[in-house]
Amino acid sequence: MIKSAAVSSRSVLVDPHGRTIRKLRLSLLDACNASCLYCMPEKRLFESLQRGLPIAELLEIVARLVHYGITTVRVTGGEPTLHPDFIEYMQRLSQLPIERLAFTTNAIRLHQLLPQLESTNCRHINISLDSLQESGFKRITGRAALEAVLAGIDAALERGYTIKLNCVLMRHLNDHEIPDFLAFAHRKGIEIRFLELMNIGIAGDYFQQHYFSAAECLAAIALHTTVTRLPSELDATAIQYQTEQGARFGIIASESIPFCQHCSRWRLLPNGELRACLFQSDGISLCACSPAEFEERLHTVLRRKPTERLVRQEQDMYQIGG
Ligand code: 5AD
Ligand code: SF4
Repeated sequence: MIKSAAVSSRSVLVDPHGRTIRKLRLSLLDACNASCLYCMPEKRLFESLQRGLPIAELLEIVARLVHYGITTVRVTGGEPTLHPDFIEYMQRLSQLPIERLAFTTNAIRLHQLLPQLESTNCRHINISLDSLQESGFKRITGRAALEAVLAGIDAALERGYTIKLNCVLMRHLNDHEIPDFLAFAHRKGIEIRFLELMNIGIAGDYFQQHYFSAAECLAAIALHTTVTRLPSELDATAIQYQTEQGARFGIIASESIPFCQHCSRWRLLPNGELRACLFQSDGISLCACSPAEFEERLHTVLRRKPTERLVRQEQDMYQIGG
């Protein structure tokens, strides 16, 4: 029942700085079938499948949040498609009166999941793709799975899904591929977003050597073409651009041009913990609350949302959800 529901206009999730919370990142689990350099340490602790809430309880919390004004749900992980109930989650989320249901995936299992995904109302998929070269892909993700990912992208396009590619740029690792990424996305008619590496968890170890800024990305593109900035929504994470050939791309400059002042996102973890910000590690549990307690906790989280970029997050991305 995804629709432009009247519910979106009765949002009460406005924080003390006037930011309206509309978007929820829902992490289903912390496990992943890749080991991206900047996300997955060798010593990893996958614990959400043991500690995660039963599907009905987690979805009950999401439904209550929707009642309070959430209009967009993006399912994340870890790798959400690895959750044994992934399709059931997507089917049940499809019943909520929201405007958009999406998920973020590394797309390693996407191709085989697409037939089942048709039973949901999800039409938007964000796919992580940090290299178009077999060797670069293997080096960054730890998996020789580029072919599977590309097959997943093609199959999803054939089925009419809207795809966004997320490409975390890293000096010496994939910055030389920027023109290839642009050409690939343009050829396929897909929106691509270049992400600055964020200072989260193990990515801190790679920062000095590999951080590649938005300004450097634009400069690299400007060597080949002229770029125009396009308008974007106030609470968008990406700044949008277009090349003179008509290729569109976004840059998510979380480090050099943070977008906290207009952030409209909350994060819900598999154990029912709600977090105001990607960079905060202390959330508030929404489990087993009375309606009054639930509302009180939402107000506490609203007050906790920072207005400026916190410098670093100690937890790893796979534990929080991208
Ligand atoms: N910096 C930037 N992007 C990151 N991602 C994971 N960790 C980081 C980080 N430290 C990205 C993944 C995926 C999305 C969920 O977040 O590549 O596309
Ligand atoms: Fe897995 Fe995503 Fe982390 Fe890569 S970034 S290891 S795909 S959770």
